[in-house]
Amino acid sequence: MLSRIGLAGLAVMGQNLALNIAEKGFPISVYNRTVAKVDETVARAASEGGLPLFGHRSPQDFVLSISRPRSIVILVKAGAPVDQTIDTLSRYLEPGDAIIDGGNEWYENTERRIREASARGLLYLGMGVSGGEDGARNGPSLMPGGSHQAYDNIENILTRIAAQVDDGPCVTFVGEGGAGNFVKMVHNGIEYGDMQLISEAYDVLRIVGGLSNAELAETFAEWNRGELESFLIEITADIFGVRDEHGDGELVDKILDKTGMKGTGKWTVQQAAELSIAAPTIAASLDSRYLSGLKEEREAAAKTLEQAGISSADFATFRSVDKKRLIDDVRQALYASKICSYAQGMNLLKSKSAEKGWNLNLGELARIWKGGCIIRARFLDRIKKAYERNRGLANLIVDPEFAKEMVQRQAAWRRVVGLAIEAGISTPGMCASLAYFDTYRRARLPANLVQAQRDYFGAHTYERVDRPGSFHTEWSKIARQGRAGTGIRS
Ligand SMILES: *[C@@H]1O[C@H](CO)[C@@H](O)[C@H](O)[C@H]1NC(C)=O
Repeated sequence: MLSRIGLAGLAVMGQNLALNIAEKGFPISVYNRTVAKVDETVARAASEGGLPLFGHRSPQDFVLSISRPRSIVILVKAGAPVDQTIDTLSRYLEPGDAIIDGGNEWYENTERRIREASARGLLYLGMGVSGGEDGARNGPSLMPGGSHQAYDNIENILTRIAAQVDDGPCVTFVGEGGAGNFVKMVHNGIEYGDMQLISEAYDVLRIVGGLSNAELAETFAEWNRGELESFLIEITADIFGVRDEHGDGELVDKILDKTGMKGTGKWTVQQAAELSIAAPTIAASLDSRYLSGLKEEREAAAKTLEQAGISSADFATFRSVDKKRLIDDVRQALYASKICSYAQGMNLLKSKSAEKGWNLNLGELARIWKGGCIIRARFLDRIKKAYERNRGLANLIVDPEFAKEMVQRQAAWRRVVGLAIEAGISTPGMCASLAYFDTYRRARLPANLVQAQRDYFGAHTYERVDRPGSFHTEWSKIARQGRAGTGIRS
């Protein structure tokens, strides 16, 4: 009997996704160059009650064991390994067969591979998979893009293996070309923002509010029962409760403050710049990771500035704050900051969609992020509804519901950022979100002065508020005459 689908690349994500597919009753063939990986996966399938999963040691046997038109998911490291795997498999594939890359691939690589595959009569999908190991096994959020036919061929599988939420499975055909990978990239950029904002909330509560790990655990658990309910808030509550097995106290305090990264956050910020989309919260989270990496420099800087006289006194001891009120303020600041961050991510998607003609459905994307993925959260349902109300919404902030929420939270938000600044606690994500909000909502900005300067030194011209056309002024000549007239010498 032939398998319904195949999967090549049996590292953690691949193994778990293959087991998920088999568990839903779809016979699956698996392959990995390293034979031990095949054996390991087959053994896991056997130990989980004899799931219909079949291991293959040669790429040819693997491909020929799958029913036509074939669908083969590959889960290998992005970049060259994907090309190598495609090369190996496509020797045995036939026209109409499809390759589905489930890795975190750069979207332009997918677009190149779509062209190469189509020259061989093959179909291709670049599919974002989010949810980590556990998601892959028990229900990820899936973001497939590329060939619609390739999607149709496995739609019944994807809708079964994806996370299920109240309004359906967390999968949709995202769009053509590299749309699936691009959406996954922005998802990860948003994830960077969320994690940064949560870490800032933690820092403010700890340093300004003097909260213990036990109080932090309780606070985040409480938040997870309200509007902030999400996977990241939930795991954060758990983290504060984990004790250090090698010593006193909680493990979180023993972890080196240096953040790792794999590149999707950087890509998101680069794309935002390419498309002239402001994404300051996501950029701030990337910058924070870079600065966190300078551990030795930061330690030296702390010493130098202490010697230069900066106060290192414990903020909570010299400035009493009402803990309960601070906790509630931080909750509101976090929520408002998050909305601004999602607004940036969504606008990046909208702009790219217009450039590429992807016709992305932002409400539907918010829906498939409601379950399975790392940024899954209750408030994504509100984002979904905002785009359902108005598909062309200029910015989440001006959706009537979100606008109301922002206004309700802005006083608390400003108090938190103000306190943090006073305490010398950097909150780059919250500050970036607040500045984004305060810039976007202002009908008139000081950009008039920048335009005047540009025209002064570069004759770049300017427009006027009261009449059409572009204008240039001989600024220095007039200024000199003016000074001459008033007796001021330059
Ligand atoms: C198989 O496993 C190895 C090591 O675990 C990995 O490097 C390789 O990319 C995997 N995939 C394929 C398709 O062989």
